[in-house]
Amino acid sequence: MILVQTLMLRNMTMNKENLTRRQFIATTSAGALAAAASQGFAANANDTSTSKKGTLAVLGGQPVRTRPFPGWPVWDKDKDEEPVISVLRSGVWSRDKVVAQFEREYAERMGAKRCIATTNGTNALLTSLHCLDIGIGDEVLVTPYTFVASIQAIFLCGALPIMVDPDPETFQINPDKLEDKITEHTKAIMPVHILGLPADMDRINAVARKHKLVVVEDACQAWLAEWKGRKCGTLGQLGCFSFQNSKNLPCGEGGAIVGDDDDLMDRCYAYHDFGRGYGTVGQVEGTGFRIMGNKCRMTEYQGAILLAQMKRLEQQTETRCRNAAYLTSRISKIPGIIPHRLYDGVTRAAYHLYPFRYDQSRFDGVPRGKFLAALKAEGVPCSSGYNRVNKDSFFENALRSKNFRKAYSQERLDRCRQLNDCPDGDRLCDEAVWFSQNLLLGTQGDMDDIADAMEKIYNHRSSLH
Ligand SMILES: Cc1ncc(COP(=O)(O)O)c(C=O)c1O
Repeated sequence: MILVQTLMLRNMTMNKENLTRRQFIATTSAGALAAAASQGFAANANDTSTSKKGTLAVLGGQPVRTRPFPGWPVWDKDKDEEPVISVLRSGVWSRDKVVAQFEREYAERMGAKRCIATTNGTNALLTSLHCLDIGIGDEVLVTPYTFVASIQAIFLCGALPIMVDPDPETFQINPDKLEDKITEHTKAIMPVHILGLPADMDRINAVARKHKLVVVEDACQAWLAEWKGRKCGTLGQLGCFSFQNSKNLPCGEGGAIVGDDDDLMDRCYAYHDFGRGYGTVGQVEGTGFRIMGNKCRMTEYQGAILLAQMKRLEQQTETRCRNAAYLTSRISKIPGIIPHRLYDGVTRAAYHLYPFRYDQSRFDGVPRGKFLAALKAEGVPCSSGYNRVNKDSFFENALRSKNFRKAYSQERLDRCRQLNDCPDGDRLCDEAVWFSQNLLLGTQGDMDDIADAMEKIYNHRSSLH
C-alpha cells in the first residue's frame, strides 16, 4: 500500500522533468492509477461531454479518466511461469539451450541470419562497436536525442561520439546533417531508432556507403519496426536490441545483436564469451581464449522469459500501431499539438513511446510543465521525455578523463565539444511529450480518453495561467 501511495503521489504531483523513462513507465501502471482513482477522483469521469465542459482536474474539476491504462510488463501465469521454474529446477542457469533457442527464434523473427543474446542492450552496442574495430582514435556519429547508453557505448570503446542533430519532425537523426560531421576519423554511424520509430535508413546507408563507414543500428527501442518491409536492426552491419523491463520485449535485463556476416558474428560471439575461440575466430588451443573479450552472456532465465514474451509481441505491435494511428488522427486536430512524422519508408513503427511536440504559443503561453501536470490530473500518464543527455556531465567528464586526454589531441577533444551543440535536439527536449507504450495497448476508447483530455486542456488553457 505504501508503494502504491508513493506511486500515486509521484504520478499526480511529481515534475516529470525529474522522472526517468523507466520510472515513468512504472508510474503508469495499473496500481498507481487505481490508487489515484480511489484517492478522490470523482466517479463517472468518463462522461467526456461533462468533463470537456467542466473545470480542469488540476484545478479541482472531474478528470476525464479514472480507470488505469494497461500495466507493464504482462505475463500469462498459466503459460509463462513454468518455463522459468523449469530453468530453476534444471540447475542450468548460465547460457545454454534456452538462450540458443531464443537466438534462433529471434533471428528468424528479425529476418537476420544470426543473433547473439547479451546481458543488455548497452553491452550489445559495446560488443558490436568493438568487433567492428571501432576504438581509440575513431569517431562515431550519433544523435543526442537518445538514451544515454547509445553515447556511453561509444565512449566505452574509446571512441568519440559526434553528435548529429535530430530532425524535429521525426525525432530521428537528421540525414541532411550527417555529412557535415564526417572527417577522416569517422568510422561509423549509429542510427538510433529512437522511441521505436525508424530512422531514414536509405539516406543513412547511402552516406555510409559513400564515406565507407559502418552502420551499427541502435534498435534498442525498435523490436519489429520496419523500414521498407525490412526489420530495423537488419539494415546496417549489426543491429542491437534491449530487453530491459520497460521495453516492448522485456525480460528484466537483456539484449541481442543481430547480423548476417558470419565472421563478424563469430567475433561478437567470442568477445561476449571472454574472447574464447568461436567459429572463424579460431579453434580452441591452449586455454582457448583468442581475442580480447568481455563477458556479457544471457542467462537461461532471461531466455525463458523472452521466449514467452515473444509470443505476444506481434499482436501487441499491431495494437500499438493501430492505436497510435487513431490517436494521431484525433490529436492532430488540436492547435499546438504537433504529432511525430513517420518517414515514407516506414512500413511499421514499434512505438516504444508515442511522441508529439507541444507548442506553448498555441496554448496561450501555458508552459509544457503545466500542460503535463494538467494531463496527468485528467488521468493520462505522460512525460516530457529526454533531457539534454549530451549536456550531462558524463560527457565532459569523459573528454577530460586521463585516458581520453592521452588518446586525443586537445584540438580533437575541443571539436567534439563544439559539435555537441544540437539546437534541434535541444528543442525536442523542450517541446516533446511522450506516452509510454503500455498506454497504446488499450482500446480505441482509451485513445479517445487521451484525446478528450488534451482537447479539454486546450479548451480551458486560459484557466492554467
Ligand atoms: C536507445 C537505447 N539504447 C541503448 C539502451 C541500452 O539498453 P540496456 O538498458 O538494455 O542496456 C537503451 C535502453 O534503455 C535504449 O533505450
